[in-house]
Amino acid sequence: MANEEQQQSWATQGVDWVDNAAIFEAVLAPFAEPVIQAADIRPGVRVLDIGCGSGTLLERSAALGATPVGVDISQPMVDAARRRVPEATVVLGDAQIMDLGGPVFDRVISRFGVMFFDDPVAAFINIRRAAAPGARLAFVCWREGDNPMFSVGVDMLAAQLESPPAAADPTEPGPLAFGNAERVRTILADAGWADVELAAFDGVCNFSIDGSDGVEERLTMILSNRTGQQARTELPVRLGEDGWAAVVDKLRDELRRHRVDGVLKFPGHTWVVTATNPG
Ligand SMILES: C[S@@+](CC[C@H](N)C(=O)[O-])C[C@H]1O[C@@H](n2cnc3c(N)ncnc32)[C@H](O)[C@@H]1O
Repeated sequence: MANEEQQQSWATQGVDWVDNAAIFEAVLAPFAEPVIQAADIRPGVRVLDIGCGSGTLLERSAALGATPVGVDISQPMVDAARRRVPEATVVLGDAQIMDLGGPVFDRVISRFGVMFFDDPVAAFINIRRAAAPGARLAFVCWREGDNPMFSVGVDMLAAQLESPPAAADPTEPGPLAFGNAERVRTILADAGWADVELAAFDGVCNFSIDGSDGVEERLTMILSNRTGQQARTELPVRLGEDGWAAVVDKLRDELRRHRVDGVLKFPGHTWVVTATNPG
């Protein structure tokens, strides 16, 4: 089955994401508007959001008078998006292989939802089938190079594990799979998209919520990612509850050291990618 590993991973990560929605929403907020702007979302357009998660872009598109449809492989995410944006249609499935309908969509958008396909060319061919001739594609993805989102605190926790997750391979499905501009251009061109452009966009990932210093919020995010989930399973058993608590306290100290002006925040380096469906 296509994307089986990602499906399992997002079934679990989706639960943590929805439980901690306020944190993910706040930290990723700066990356929504660049997609909306690049896609030129306006009243009446039919919008397809790939990997829509809990529905941020669906909500924004609906507020702008568009007709949004979301697709996501994770049931908890789909449930959350349906609750949050009742006026949107949200379907559960794998955007790489499922029939997305069409060709009807005027806009195809995504915020960090297109990097997880095991066959990205096949996925973008399938997505293009749902797009109307001349439709605009706009998505944001993490850019290659130093991205503190994947290192601050994560490296320290990984060092405590006997077999930490392997460093992300930028050609394998995962958050960094679309980091290389040439790779993105090639995938989209091979999938038949035209006018492919990438613009660097740097937002600030700010973990402070309601005046907090952001340390607990960053800790929560780390513990819900791949390394964090492994640590939560492995370390309390190997080190005992006190040993695990000590590791978490050390992690807090490390995160406090990264505060800037009393708040944990760092840059998020991304690409905003646009293309058109030649029809
Ligand atoms: C990093 S999250 C982003 C969620 C949302 N776009 C946001 O910005 O809040 C990535 C999302 O892509 C979804 N996803 C991963 N692989 C997918 C696939 N093959 N088809 C559809 N959705 C997928 C995940 O379930 C997850 O909700």
